[in-house]
Amino acid sequence: MPEIFEATLNDVELPPGLLAFLACATPDAWIEWALDNPELLLIDHAQCEKKAASTAMSLLYRYVDHPLLLTKMSQLAREELLHFEQVVKLMEARGIEYRHLSASRYAEGLRRHVRPQEPERLVDILIIGAFIEARSCERFARLIPHLDPELARFYRSLVKSEGRHYEDYLMLARYLSSDAIDKRVGFFAECEAQLIVTPDTAFRFHSGVPA
Ligand SMILES: [Fe+2]
Ligand SMILES: [Fe+2]
Repeated sequence: MPEIFEATLNDVELPPGLLAFLACATPDAWIEWALDNPELLLIDHAQCEKKAASTAMSLLYRYVDHPLLLTKMSQLAREELLHFEQVVKLMEARGIEYRHLSASRYAEGLRRHVRPQEPERLVDILIIGAFIEARSCERFARLIPHLDPELARFYRSLVKSEGRHYEDYLMLARYLSSDAIDKRVGFFAECEAQLIVTPDTAFRFHSGVPA
C-alpha cells in the first residue's frame, strides 16, 4: 500500500469493510490531479450530489412496492440535495462559477452492465449505488489531509454520510435479492477498479488517472 494511503486513512474513520469492498485504492496520480484542479473538483462534486439525489428519486418512482427502499431512498435524496446546497454555497464563497460539465465515463461504465430483467435490474442498480458511494467516501477521505481547514471539515462530514449511503445500498441489494449477491459484487468490483486505474481524458470526481 502506498505511504500516502495509510497516512491518510489513519485519522479518517471509514465504515468497516469499505476499503475491502473496493478492489483498488485511488491512485496517487488522481489525488495530484484533483489538487491541481480545485475548481473542477467542486463543480463536478456538486454535479455528483445532484445526480445521487436524482438516482434515489428515480428509484422512488420505479419501485413503489418496497417500503424499506422507499424510506431509505427518500432520506438519501434529501441528504444528497443538502450536500448539493452545501457545495454550491462553498463554491459561491470561493468565487467559483457553476458551469455545465460533461459526465465522466464512470457511472455509465458501470450502468452498461445492468441486467435488463427484474429483480436483477434493481439489485444491480443498488450494487452500483454502493460502489459509487464507497468510492466517493474513499476519495473524500484521501483528499482531506491535503485540503484547507474549511473544505477538510466539510469532506469529513461527507465521509460519514456517504459511508452510511454505501452501507444502505449494500443492505438493500442483499435484502431485495433472492440469491447471494457476492458474485455480482465481485463482478462490479472488477469493472469499477478498471475505471479507476485506467487513463481518462478529463478530470472528474470519479475519473481514472490522467492520460
Ligand atoms: Fe452526498
Ligand atoms: Fe451519498
